[in-house]
Amino acid sequence: MLEIKKNIYWVGVRDWELKRFHGEEFSTHRGSTYNSYLIRDKKIALVDTVWTPFHEEFAEELDREIGLENISLIVINHTEQDHAGSLLYLMEKIPDTPIYCTRNGAAMIKGHFHKDWNFNAVKTGDSVDLGEYKLVFVEMPLLHWPDSMATYVAGANVLLSNDAFGQHYVSSSLYNDQVDQGELFQEAIKYFANILTPFSDLVKKKTAEIKSLNLPIDMIAPSHGIIWRDNPLQIVEKYEQWASGYHEGTVAILYDTMWGATRKMALAIARGLENKGVGAKLFNLGKSDKADVVTEVFKARGVIVGSSTINRSVLSNTAAILEVIKGLKFKGKVGAAFGSYGWSGESPKIIQDRLAEAGIEIIAEPLKMKWDPAPENLKECEAFGEAFADKIR
Ligand code: FEO
Repeated sequence: MLEIKKNIYWVGVRDWELKRFHGEEFSTHRGSTYNSYLIRDKKIALVDTVWTPFHEEFAEELDREIGLENISLIVINHTEQDHAGSLLYLMEKIPDTPIYCTRNGAAMIKGHFHKDWNFNAVKTGDSVDLGEYKLVFVEMPLLHWPDSMATYVAGANVLLSNDAFGQHYVSSSLYNDQVDQGELFQEAIKYFANILTPFSDLVKKKTAEIKSLNLPIDMIAPSHGIIWRDNPLQIVEKYEQWASGYHEGTVAILYDTMWGATRKMALAIARGLENKGVGAKLFNLGKSDKADVVTEVFKARGVIVGSSTINRSVLSNTAAILEVIKGLKFKGKVGAAFGSYGWSGESPKIIQDRLAEAGIEIIAEPLKMKWDPAPENLKECEAFGEAFADKIR
């Protein structure tokens, strides 16, 4: 138990070994944490639990420190298994403990665990007095599940924000002012890009709502990663930027290649962009991590995607990233497609259609080349990159 504010303790788990999350979908190169918080007031409240594989060590530690029977109530801000996964184990030991969550949360907990525990459904503004402190609930529907909410500890000025403002990042320190800032913000933006992008409009509304409440906030303590205690509102401001068509002016070139021809095209397109002063980042989709690629697409103004043609379609890693991009509903990005082929040559048009379907504005006709590009073909690719740059500068 680590006291983060008077009588408020972090009782989570540091998972240094976690490398994939959401099944195998999301890479977590820097591990993660499952942050659970305990408020020891006249009543003792536990806010969120930890992922199921850690339920035993989590519950035993709590039992040793405070005695499980002394927990007056449990708040579940969000029912995904990384936060509610220890409930079943915990509730076997303290089955009558009231659980505070949203109405959607109660339905989801029942769906996960098939138990009818003592649920107390809460709405924004509802509160529970603990003694010195008061818990005030703020619904955050679809940030990022329909059940999500945050809990504000009035009197302590601590916002327990659950997934919002979190990062998959484990460190020996719990605090934002004690970790490498480059690592921290890379993980924070990766988290936003991969998880919150589709809900950007809701993020903007919710951050505006939180600010309009004028709550004193000394600390934002999410359910993953470090706690924002030094200028905590800086991450709220970042979320506002990230939710508002954010880009850094670069172009992400994503390609997959069977025998290197599409790769040569990609490199030549990048040269064209660079000739015009636009930074390009290249990713061979067969060798790159999807979540990292998504993060770079998020940072980019433009996305140019290329694939060889195979079986009248695109290579499978290209198909996968296009599916992910479609789901994330990026806004304000422009794009184009390219690729080499031997005889039928469908891939660039397929890519263009999928980018358009994903809401990417197409600003160049697809570029396709037969067999291996000759020097004059590569000049054409370079010109394609230059023309793309002219349109976005
Ligand atoms: Fe960290 Fe949506 O769970």
